[in-house]
Amino acid sequence: MKVTWRILLLYIAGVLIFFAARAVFVPPSFGELGHYRADSIKEITKIQTKIGENFECFNCHVNEYVLWSVGRHKGISCMSCHGLLKAHVENPEEHEAKDEILGYNAYPSITEFCMSCHAKSSSKPKEFPQITIEHGRGENWNCTKCHDPHDPVR
Ligand code: HEC
Ligand code: HEC
Ligand code: HEC
Ligand code: HEC
Repeated sequence: MKVTWRILLLYIAGVLIFFAARAVFVPPSFGELGHYRADSIKEITKIQTKIGENFECFNCHVNEYVLWSVGRHKGISCMSCHGLLKAHVENPEEHEAKDEILGYNAYPSITEFCMSCHAKSSSKPKEFPQITIEHGRGENWNCTKCHDPHDPVR
C-alpha cells in the first residue's frame, strides 16, 4: 500500500514539474497562429534586405549597367559577381565595394572566377559556353584582357 502511494506522489510531482517547466520555456506567442511562435513573423519582416537590385546600380554606374544590359551576361545579376551590396548602394563612400565584393574577390584571380562558370565539363549542357584553360592563353593573360565582364563578346 505504502509503495503505491509513493509511486502516485512521484507521478503527480512529475506532472507538476512538466507544467511548471512548460510555463517557463514556451514563448508567449506560441500557438497563436499555429504550431510556432507568432511573434517570429513580425521579427522576420523587420529584417532588412541585403541585396542591391540591378536597377539601383544604374544611377551611379551607368557605363557598366548599359554594357551589361545589352551583353551576353545580362541574365546574370550584378549581385552574382559583385556580392550583396545593399550597404554599398545606401552608403557607397563608407562601403566601397572593394571590401564587400563577394564574387570575384573570393577567388584567387578573375580568371579563376570566370572559369568557375565556364570551365569545360561534360556535366554541363552543350549550349553553355565552355572553354579549357588553354583558351586565350598568352603572356600575362587574363580573361578581362580580351573580354569585358559586363559585355563579354564585345
Ligand atoms: C549612390 C551611388 C552608387 C550606387 C547606387 C552604387 N554604387 Fe558602386 N560605387 C559608388 C562609388 C562612389 C564607388 C567608389 C568610387 C569608384 O571607384 O567609382 C563605387 C564602387 C563600386 C565598385 C568598385 C569599383 C572599383 O574600382 O573597385 C563596384 C564593383 C561597384 N561599385 C558595384 C556596384 C553595384 C553592383 C551596385 C548595385 C548593386 C552599385 N555599385 C551601386 C557609387 C555607387
Ligand atoms: C559576370 C560577372 C559580372 C557581372 C554580371 C557584373 N560584373 Fe561588374 N565587374 C566584374 C568583374 C570581373 C570586374 C573587374 C574587372 C577588372 O578588374 O578588370 C567588374 C568591375 C565592375 C566595376 C568597376 C569598374 C572599374 O573600371 O573599376 C563596376 C562599377 C561594376 N563592375 C559594376 C557592375 C554592375 C552595376 C553590374 C550589373 C549591372 C555588374 N558590374 C555586373 C564582373 C561582373
Ligand atoms: C555566374 C556564372 C558566370 C560567370 C562568373 C561568368 N560567366 Fe560568362 N557567361 C555565363 C553564362 C550563363 C553565359 C551565357 C549567357 C547566354 O547567352 O545565355 C555566359 C556567356 C559568356 C560569353 C559569351 C559566350 C558565347 O557563346 O559567345 C563569354 C565570352 C563569357 N561569358 C566570358 C566570361 C568571362 C570573361 C567571365 C569572367 C569575367 C565570365 N564570363 C564570368 C555565366 C558566367
Ligand atoms: C587573347 C584574347 C582572349 C583571352 C585572354 C580570353 N579569351 Fe575568351 N574568347 C576570345 C575570342 C576571340 C573568342 C571568340 C572566338 C572563339 O570562340 O574562339 C572567345 C570566346 C570565348 C567564349 C565562348 C566560347 C564558346 O565556344 O562559346 C568563352 C566562354 C570565353 N571566351 C571565356 C573566356 C574566359 C573565361 C577567359 C579567361 C580564362 C578567356 N575567355 C580569355 C579571346 C580571348
